[in-house]
Amino acid sequence: MFKNFWYAVEFSHNISDRPQLVKLLNQEFVVYRTPAGKVVALDNRCVHRGAALANGTVLGNCVVCPYHGWKFEPSGKCTEIPANPAGRSIPGRARVSAYDVVEKYGWVWIFIGDLPADQRPPIPELPHFYNPDLKAIRGDFHWSANYERIVENGLDIAHAPFVHAGAFGNPDAPEVEKYDLERQDWGAGTTVMLEPTPPGGIWRFLMGLWGSSKPAPVKTRTAFILPNITVLEVYMSFGRLAIYTSHVPIDAHTTVSKWVSFRSFFKGGWADRDAHQRVISIFEQDRPVVESQRPQLIPFDLSAELHVPSDALQVQYRKMRLQLRDRGWFIGEPQSMGDRSALALTNSVGSESNSAYN
Ligand code: FES
Ligand SMILES: [Fe+2]
Repeated sequence: MFKNFWYAVEFSHNISDRPQLVKLLNQEFVVYRTPAGKVVALDNRCVHRGAALANGTVLGNCVVCPYHGWKFEPSGKCTEIPANPAGRSIPGRARVSAYDVVEKYGWVWIFIGDLPADQRPPIPELPHFYNPDLKAIRGDFHWSANYERIVENGLDIAHAPFVHAGAFGNPDAPEVEKYDLERQDWGAGTTVMLEPTPPGGIWRFLMGLWGSSKPAPVKTRTAFILPNITVLEVYMSFGRLAIYTSHVPIDAHTTVSKWVSFRSFFKGGWADRDAHQRVISIFEQDRPVVESQRPQLIPFDLSAELHVPSDALQVQYRKMRLQLRDRGWFIGEPQSMGDRSALALTNSVGSESNSAYN
């Protein structure tokens, strides 16, 4: 797991004035929306006796602990201790860590790390999200697997004929043409032509509509954006599809993929259910393979697993994560709540509050 990134952890529509528990990197956060609409992210553990703030209530801009009513403002500072006599000052250590939050693309992004704002990897530019001609739907998928195995699965072209035979993979065309890598500062991708099998359901209808019994090769782009986003773009004769997924690392062995799927065709609400089901069924095809992989965590040693030319994009991912480790951004798996200072999981907002743990 890596620090110094913005993580898209939840959909904006799930964050309200009710405190919401968000898990990320084996840590718990309480996330809520103030009356002015601003999203706040704090450590979930109350600094007093460790009760979960996510079980509390939001009052004005503050979250109130359910145990003894301590009130915390968006900066994490405690502003009220109801049991104290009136006029007694509140100790400086009475605060929880607060995290920088941005809402963009319908996701809530939390910055985890210790880099100043101007040195952080940016929240990526994702043009599909601005395109009014595309219909978007969103969903979650839960895995018992490490997020990096899931990211690599999302990049893996050679598995389609085996894992997705009958969906979009063609068992009669397993060869992967040599492909070029597109390299970006914080990711990489590739575009290939895939030979699909004739699909079923609404997709068969679509193919029939265009009078083609054997589908033409389909331009397909897969890409990753560090640390945990995958992109899949598929250009079909009748339209295009793009799926952006933030694979949220809950802990080393648990991931929730928060996906957004765009389509340029059949944009009516009536087609949403089929489109949603299609994404889920693809993930369900991947699940048994990905959850079976051992070791569960991708090794840093590039020679620990075998690579062939069709794995070039995943190898690029592994190389870039090695570079992140060399920068000192690898944090392993934080072992326990409140263990933040030992793991340098501080950020510019919350670092001051670390003294509360010392
Ligand atoms: S544990 Fe939160 S106020 Fe006591
Ligand atoms: Fe897959």
